[in-house]
Amino acid sequence: MEHLLDVRDLSITYLNKSRNVQAVRHASFTIDRGDSLGLVGESGSGKSTLAMGMLRILPENSIEMTGSALFMGKDLISISHEEMNRLRWKEIAVVFQKAMNALSPVHRIGTQIEDIYRVHEPRATKAEIHDRTMELLRMVNMPERVYRLYPHEMSGGMLQRVAIVISLLHSPKLLVFDEATTALDVVTQGQILEEVVAMEKTIEMTRIMITHDMSVVASSCRKVAVMYAGELVEIGMVRDVLKQPLHPYTQGLMSSFPSLKGEKKQLRAIPGFLPDLSDPPAGCAFASRCPHCTQQCLSQKPVLREMPDGRRVACHLVGGQKHE
Ligand SMILES: Nc1ncnc2c1ncn2[C@@H]1O[C@H](COP(=O)(O)OP(=O)(O)OP(=O)(O)O)[C@@H](O)[C@H]1O
Ligand SMILES: [Mg+2]
Repeated sequence: MEHLLDVRDLSITYLNKSRNVQAVRHASFTIDRGDSLGLVGESGSGKSTLAMGMLRILPENSIEMTGSALFMGKDLISISHEEMNRLRWKEIAVVFQKAMNALSPVHRIGTQIEDIYRVHEPRATKAEIHDRTMELLRMVNMPERVYRLYPHEMSGGMLQRVAIVISLLHSPKLLVFDEATTALDVVTQGQILEEVVAMEKTIEMTRIMITHDMSVVASSCRKVAVMYAGELVEIGMVRDVLKQPLHPYTQGLMSSFPSLKGEKKQLRAIPGFLPDLSDPPAGCAFASRCPHCTQQCLSQKPVLREMPDGRRVACHLVGGQKHE
């Protein structure tokens, strides 16, 4: 069966006057309909760049993008702006951490939602839009009166939830959350994730969840992709990867996160820093921080290899079958 999203060899470079930053390098992964993929990795690893590049929301005069991202057979990287605009919000919706800065301060929330709704459904009635919005407001734990408020009358967390409501208005096929629930209180975050997961079952929505929070991945995603310094280093089922991470970076990431089982464990940050992405290392990008680094790791780049459980790992020391 065709994948909903098939990203192949996607590379994204920021072009700056003094130095080019190779923020995403040769990323390949697929997502199937109804799937949910957590995208994790420390700050600066390229998660937002990957998502924003793929959705064409990076300023095109300052980036270079190669590779492809097939969404229902259409390459998001090469389709026209008009076509991309048609897909955005209706088929693909994205919510960022501070998504609501985009709202107009002089119009009520309800009016703005009606306008946004009608971009894709010009003939929708006021009542139709109102009903759909009320349903979604309840889902994100907000009162109906929000519809009549102005943005300045609301807290940051309330505005963020309005952004989530807007993203779900048209029941998109692909939903991308980039730290969209991070700033919300745990109870609200939990409720939203639960509702989103339930929605995915009924309308076959697919989700990419960019987060720092491994417990969010554990509770709301089926698959996880780990990114380090612009490269995907481990991709697999959440149940396999979280139980037994194979890439030394994934292992480090897991031990720097409070235990999911509630056991008290010493938290350890991974010593060292991300390499300079304007001059990425020839070998494994993680080599300089890896406790198991060998000569081969310094000179030769490991490719993603498939393990017996189906996950893919890019590490010379892990073995597995060469993929593709
Ligand atoms: N406009 C830009 N010009 C040059 N480099 C950039 C630009 N935007 C981001 N970068 C660099 O690209 C790399 C990836 O950044 P990105 O924002 O994608 O990381 P991230 O994984 O989303 O991090 P975080 O978890 O902090 O959101 C970083 O090294 C960052 O410094
Ligand atoms: Mg980011």
